Amino acid sequence: DLMNEVMGLSKLQNRVKEKLGIKKVIIIPGNYEKNESLLKDVAKQGAEYFLSILKDTNIVSITGGSTMLEFANSLRGDKKYNQTTIVPARGGVGKDVETQANNIVAIVGKKLGAHYKLLHIPDELGVEAMKTLSLEPEIKKTLNYIVDTDILVFGIGRADEMATRRKLPKKQVEEILSKGAVGEAFGYYFNKDGEIVYELNTVGINLETFKSVKNNIAIFAGASKAEAVTAISKVNDNMVIVTDEESAYKILEIN
Ligand code: G3H
Repeated sequence: DLMNEVMGLSKLQNRVKEKLGIKKVIIIPGNYEKNESLLKDVAKQGAEYFLSILKDTNIVSITGGSTMLEFANSLRGDKKYNQTTIVPARGGVGKDVETQANNIVAIVGKKLGAHYKLLHIPDELGVEAMKTLSLEPEIKKTLNYIVDTDILVFGIGRADEMATRRKLPKKQVEEILSKGAVGEAFGYYFNKDGEIVYELNTVGINLETFKSVKNNIAIFAGASKAEAVTAISKVNDNMVIVTDEESAYKILEIN
């Protein structure tokens, strides 16, 4: 019955939380790989949790991707946060306009009545270009906000999928994967122990900031991302994950 199911879910949440050694785990019943509409429910629950911790005056960084787009679309905008600032945690990736961090930040910023800043540059840049652009006043302002992130909301990327999405040359993809990369976040590729095995020159949130953020909320659906999230959870244990039930079981299976 319902009571048993609720008991089961809360036990599962605790088991995953203890296994990963993180702050909190929120599970949506069901299996995303059998029912893709669950992404909406997972993202909506992520949005509810985000609103429950958001304080007006916070700086919020958000990544891109299809999960974050669902997050933005499902966010309730019935309260105003005019002291809050929303910034993209990374620059532009790929060709899909809707799923860019910039677009997602703009949706969230408008819904919350918050200030928001964008990053109108590609995520991956040459070293020299990065140096020059980081000094541009508008870009510098955004980057300064990112360093002071209070809440980071992000999607989980598998190393192989992200390398492809970033259109890296085949040789580079092979090199990254041969180093044991299973997850990617903000241009860093992590192996299953959460060690960085490859790093791209990307704009946006850096490792030090990611390591020190007090609230980082990872939202994802799909057991295929379980290994990636497990790796990334080792970087900062102030982590909250919101996912579907099947993915949670999958995390428990990883050794
Ligand atoms: O950049 C993308 C995230 O890391 C995951 O993307 O939500 O589209 O799977 P996704």
